[in-house]
Amino acid sequence: GFIENIALNKYLCITFSNNFQFLFPMDFSLSEEQLMIRDAARDFARTELLPGVIERDNLQRFPTEQIKKMGELGFLGMMVDPAYGGGGMDTVSYVLAMEELSKVDASCSVIMSVNNSLVCYGLQQYGNEAQKQKYLTKLATGESLGAFCLSEPEAGSDATSQKTTAIDKGDHYILNGTKNWITNGSSANYYIVIAQTDKEKKHKGINAFIVEKGWDGFEIGPKEDKLGIRGSDTHSLIFNDVKVPKENRIGEDGFGFKFSMKTLAGGRIGIAAQALGIAGGAYDLAREYSKVRKSFGTEICNHQAIAFKLADMHTSIEAARLLVMKAAWDKDQGNNYDMSGAMAKLYASQVAMDVSIEAVQVHGGNGFVKEYHVERMMRDAKITQIYEGTSEIQRIVISRGLLRD
Ligand code: CAA
Repeated sequence: GFIENIALNKYLCITFSNNFQFLFPMDFSLSEEQLMIRDAARDFARTELLPGVIERDNLQRFPTEQIKKMGELGFLGMMVDPAYGGGGMDTVSYVLAMEELSKVDASCSVIMSVNNSLVCYGLQQYGNEAQKQKYLTKLATGESLGAFCLSEPEAGSDATSQKTTAIDKGDHYILNGTKNWITNGSSANYYIVIAQTDKEKKHKGINAFIVEKGWDGFEIGPKEDKLGIRGSDTHSLIFNDVKVPKENRIGEDGFGFKFSMKTLAGGRIGIAAQALGIAGGAYDLAREYSKVRKSFGTEICNHQAIAFKLADMHTSIEAARLLVMKAAWDKDQGNNYDMSGAMAKLYASQVAMDVSIEAVQVHGGNGFVKEYHVERMMRDAKITQIYEGTSEIQRIVISRGLLRD
């Protein structure tokens, strides 16, 4: 293994213990295509997501029109192979788009993240050809929306404790149970549902299934009244003797838990990008506000108390960006990204929380008022420390990775 890393201008020099040296190009610039995607997402967020964002939050209104347009522009299946209707883009591009949309409306970006990272990616990587033709082609274009159903009333962090069962009946399974806190709960058309098929085998007896809305016995429970990301629809789902054809099982028998873990590892990069965007949006507003709001005869940015806050906010955002980009890059390179994704999410979600709280503080009394946006960002930030693995779960993933050998 290597023993030291030295940054040399644009190269990362890795020296191995036998003195063999290897130079890797170290380049933080984005390609023209990546810049175009970032700018398109930025424009779209300002022109299409900003109008009505406060009202959607107040009324818990699902952004139907906005999601339709996002689908038409290719934001819902960014990394999917063009052969299945996707954009064929890399993870770095996806992260850039997630960041820009999250600066304005984190409800829209979680809908996008679940569809891209948990549903489309899972199907593209582990689905068979028939499943891809039937489902992925519609999900990647935004014609249909997907949901990922792992959490249960008693299986959140402890995801192997699945109570939902799917009993093998030959050519089909019979699904029974309840899922909780499901993003896109009522608006999705297709649901990836995780269930226990053999209790004796514990996590090796878990499978993932594609379930369609409207199937007999599949009921959508009440909508949750949430602190943040109130534009997204979060529901419990109830399965009562739902007949699921065997061809809708994803992967080999018993692959469901690994499928969830592998899919969530990528999902965490998306949520890290969402957190980065929330922090960036709150910082941008705080900076602008500090340049126009006056106190003690000058703009408040001229007070060190405020200027230093901006310095700390910006520094932590840049640090989070490096972690998020590194995780995305790892995924694009084919490197393992379990740890880098977990570190990115752990850190970026803390930054989203800290920066949005400080943005409210910079705004003073106005920060507490809805029309200034930052109070919504503060509320939205909190969920990034909870879903797709709490910060405590990320620490489990990171520490296990550190101590593996
Ligand atoms: N890749 C592949 N396999 C993995 C893996 C990974 N990243 N992580 C674990 N596994 C495998 C293990 O190798 C093991 O398999 P073997 O026995 O064959 O070796 C198996 O999974 C069980 O692993 P553990 O023994 O480590 O299981 P554990 O019970 O200790 O749990 C955990 C591990 C990391 C805590 C996991 O339960 C976890 O990630 N929990 C959090 C779940 C989560 O993120 N929920 C979010 C819900 S989805 C959501 O929020 C979506 C939304 O709507 C926004």
